[in-house]
Order: sequence, then structure tokens, then C-alpha cells
Amino acid sequence: MDRDELVAANLAWWDERAPVHANSSFYRVEQLINGESALDPFELEELPSETGTSLLHLQCHIGTDTISWARRGFQVTGLDFSAPAIAEARRIAAACGIDGKWIVSDVYAAPEVLNRRFDIIYTGKGAIDWLDDLGSWAKVVDQLLNPGGYLYLVEFHPITWILPDDGWAIANDYFADQPYVEADPGGSYAAPEHVTHANLTAEWHHTLGEIISCIASVGLTVEWLHEFDYTHFAQTTLLEQSPDDRRYRISAGIPRIPLLYSIRARKPS
Ligand SMILES: C[S@@+](CC[C@H](N)C(=O)[O-])C[C@H]1O[C@@H](n2cnc3c(N)ncnc32)[C@H](O)[C@@H]1O
Repeated sequence: MDRDELVAANLAWWDERAPVHANSSFYRVEQLINGESALDPFELEELPSETGTSLLHLQCHIGTDTISWARRGFQVTGLDFSAPAIAEARRIAAACGIDGKWIVSDVYAAPEVLNRRFDIIYTGKGAIDWLDDLGSWAKVVDQLLNPGGYLYLVEFHPITWILPDDGWAIANDYFADQPYVEADPGGSYAAPEHVTHANLTAEWHHTLGEIISCIASVGLTVEWLHEFDYTHFAQTTLLEQSPDDRRYRISAGIPRIPLLYSIRARKPS
């Protein structure tokens, strides 16, 4: 399959799953409507509330994080290439009483489609691995940022891609330079039992060096990079879910590796 066929397969995968995710216990939409935040505590510390500041969420999926940022005072725009995901985001935002803008667009076309700039670009938690060309993505981020604005990226740590589904070992190549194409058995991380028909995905694993170098290459200044020892899904059987915050951590006695990271990178004024 060529690159466009792989991206079309990914779009079909997300289109089918967006309504399923909106009804899943994973995305906690009912709790969001009742006032719960979808964001991690560290995100609330790293991105302080700024009333009136514009925030663009690239690859916003069904908008649960975007809506949570809107509640913190940001003027939010959510963008995703899946029309069903944006339809769910619009519906959930209305139920939450949130006044956001919701745009269907491929990330790479965002500067032309949006035709404006933002103070903050937020993205991540399973976003950039769906993109084949991180150099073009960084240019898009730069084009969409106001001078003095910044990218706030929160992602699953690329080192975690080396882990097997089961156990604790180096099972996959950190430096893999080919897309990871998988015909999965159906369902998803949020709804494993759900019967689905579009089950082929392609992901492009980017090393931490590639990610930071792409961000720096467009002139953004990386102000910090933080690493965290927990994540949002059972990436391997040796992660244990905490009943308190529902996050997944490495079992006691096993040496830890970072599972999530965050980066702030600022555009010069
Ligand atoms: C895991 S979700 C985003 C993470 C978000 N934190 C969440 O879970 O709600 C990945 C999203 O990326 C979107 N996506 C994938 N490739 C894209 C592209 N090329 N342009 C725009 N959106 C894309 C998918 O439609 C999906 O909604």
C-alpha cells in the first residue's frame, strides 16, 4: 500500500471508532459533561489558565481534552481529519455548554484551512504517530503560531514502542524507519470488545531525537521536556492500573522507563 492508501485506512479506522469512543467508559463523556476534566494533573500545572488566550488543539478526536481546556478559560479550536470525530466533539461541547470552533481538516492542510494564528498549539496523547512527515508537521505548527506563542506537546514516550504487548523486554526496534502497519483484530484501546470493520492502521514511530530536531528546525525554542512514569493505557501486561487515578504504572520491583513526556517549545517574539 502506498502512503495515501495507508492514510485512507487510518481515516476509516478513526471514522468508525469516533462514535464508539464517545460511548466508551475510557473517554468518560458523561463525567466530562458533569464537570470532570479529561486532562492530567501535570498538564494543569504546565499550561496555566489564561482567560481569552487562543488555543488550537490539533488532532482533537472527540474533543474531550479540548473542552477541558475551554473550561480553563482558553478560546479553543479543535481540528481533526475525521468528520465523525468532529461531529461528536461538537455534540459533547454543546452538552457541556462550551463555545468552541470545530474544524474537519488534515493536519498538513491546517494553515490554509484555518487562515489564522494561535497563541498556543496543544496536541498529543496518541497524535503524532499517525503522521508520516514530522518535518512538515513542525512547519505547520510554526505557521499556525503567533510570535511569542508556543507548542505544548504531550505524548506517549517513543521508548515505549520497544515494549512487547506481554511482559517486559526489548521487542521492537526503537529506530524502525518503516511504518508500523497492523491489521488489528477489531475494537480499539478504548473499546477492545467492540466489533469493527475498518481494522487496518499505519503508524509512524518517531524517536525523541527526531521529534525535538523537527521542532527546533523550524526555529522554535524547546524550553523544557518533562518525562512521566505513568500512561493512559495497558501498553504491556506489566503495567498496573491504579484505582485512584485510572493511570497505568510499571509494576513494583521492575526498573522504570518514561511512559509519557511533555514539551514546551516557543516561537520567537
Ligand atoms: C488518539 S486521537 C488524539 C488524541 C486525543 N488525546 C484523544 O485521545 O482524544 C488521534 C486523532 O488523530 C486524528 N488524526 C490522525 N491522522 C490525522 C491527520 N493526518 N490529520 C488530522 N487528524 C488526524 C484521528 O482522527 C484521531 O482523532
